[in-house]
Amino acid sequence: RLLIIDFGSQVTQLIARRLRELNVYCEIHPYQNVTEAFLKGFAPKAVIFSGGPSSVFAEGAPMPPACVFEMGVPILGICYGQQVMMHCLGGKVERGHGTAEFGRAFVTPAEGRLAILDGWFEDGREQVWMSHGDHVSQIAPGFQVFGTSPNAPFAITADPARHFYAVQFHPEVHHTPKGAKLYENFVKLAGFNGDWTMGAYREEAIAKIRAQVGDQKVICGLSGGVDSSVAAVLIHEAIGDQLTCVFVDHGLLRLGEAEQVVTMFRDHYNMPLIHADESDLFLGALEGVSDPEVKRKTIGRLFIDVFQKHAADVGGATFLAQGTLYPDVIESVSFSGGPSVTIKSHHNVGGLPEKMGLKLVEPLRELFKDEVRALGRELGLPDSFIGRHPFPGPGLAIRCPGEITREKLEILRQADAVYIDQIRRHGLYDEIWQAFVALLPVRTVGVMGDGRTYDYACALRAVTSVDGMTADYYPFTHEFLGETATRIINEVQGINRVTYDITSKPPGTIEWE
Ligand code: XMP
Repeated sequence: RLLIIDFGSQVTQLIARRLRELNVYCEIHPYQNVTEAFLKGFAPKAVIFSGGPSSVFAEGAPMPPACVFEMGVPILGICYGQQVMMHCLGGKVERGHGTAEFGRAFVTPAEGRLAILDGWFEDGREQVWMSHGDHVSQIAPGFQVFGTSPNAPFAITADPARHFYAVQFHPEVHHTPKGAKLYENFVKLAGFNGDWTMGAYREEAIAKIRAQVGDQKVICGLSGGVDSSVAAVLIHEAIGDQLTCVFVDHGLLRLGEAEQVVTMFRDHYNMPLIHADESDLFLGALEGVSDPEVKRKTIGRLFIDVFQKHAADVGGATFLAQGTLYPDVIESVSFSGGPSVTIKSHHNVGGLPEKMGLKLVEPLRELFKDEVRALGRELGLPDSFIGRHPFPGPGLAIRCPGEITREKLEILRQADAVYIDQIRRHGLYDEIWQAFVALLPVRTVGVMGDGRTYDYACALRAVTSVDGMTADYYPFTHEFLGETATRIINEVQGINRVTYDITSKPPGTIEWE
């Protein structure tokens, strides 16, 4: 296994991700925990020093134990990691003074061939991503320069005999296009054969959950979305009936959704599941409410109350499970408080752990969305669950602008089901990030058969996106749109007009409220 020593870079997890893509098993440990004894016990086959925000000149600057250089294993130092290596091995690091570099730079090769650069410089130079204030001004004895950039004469340095490699830039980020190749070369020369899989990740995650939870009880808020579903199945596999899931049904779900979730988790996976059918409570509180923010806040507040009530019924739970993913984790190492982390609160249960005095189990916090999907497949979750479009916590409430009534929700459910069925029939579901119908608070006049109609108008929404932060409308054909409009008007009582929303984000948002 490979050890990544984390010196606090915001992108350390990306190093791990690049290695997982190469099927290499690695662990990230904050530098504070990496002592001589730890290193002996861990016995890494290779070590990577991450970047970090510190300066080697700072008092108590993060350093690895000196013995790491005596272990005879390949070491790769990145950015601050390079400076650490030079500082420890007899080179020199200098303060910025006009040589700080942030962003894109181009590295050209120097004399000599280096195994970790196989496949580099085919066009004479490579784009890399720099982000540093201090820089190396003199390399350590035994090191040579293998690549330079206008502002970084020591962009790539190495002592090939000892297999120490040190680069100034960040090969793990997207903006260093050949970075993945550099990691591939590094792990190959360290003797990894790329046989680690998501199956192995599952086993390790299960062992970690067991070690963390012991014989205590865990509760998990299940939404039916991918993240909470994968987290629940994984934790259930680890600790069985010590886990209870609470599924809060606020009456704002899509057609058949509650039944699907309950059948899947209670019947198929045999999990203890509380189906909290609280639609009367939620819809009652939302009566007469039309302001979007008041709707969201009302739902958020009730959600926490309801969750708390049902969780208390479980009795004696000490852990709350959450499907937090890596992109939700905004800091990798907190220097003031040790290796702890700050989390972006989940939309629905923010503040709950503190309020209920619960500790967190977050088995997905090292993973990216596509990796969570791969893990879900590994756990046997059906593709129909894994590939699902995102669905917001407040549910259909924010797809029904204006006041919500049971009648409107029913019309919306029917129309949405027809629309999604159309998208699936045309094989477009997986190309689209998210698609739904919004029921507009507008009635318009139409004519059907020989009669006049006066019914609701609806808007179809479909967007492509990478992360939901920006989005573009999906370019359906006119044929598809025409066919869908006809089906909705024919099959859904209460709608007589269909429009297509062609607003991108920004300036629009994906949801209507
Ligand atoms: P907007 O509408 O802000 O949505 O462009 C971006 C993405 O976030 C989802 N969304 C939510 N998800 N709770 C959630 O869990 C919420 O309150 C919420 N609001 C929006 C939205 O569906 C889209 O995927």
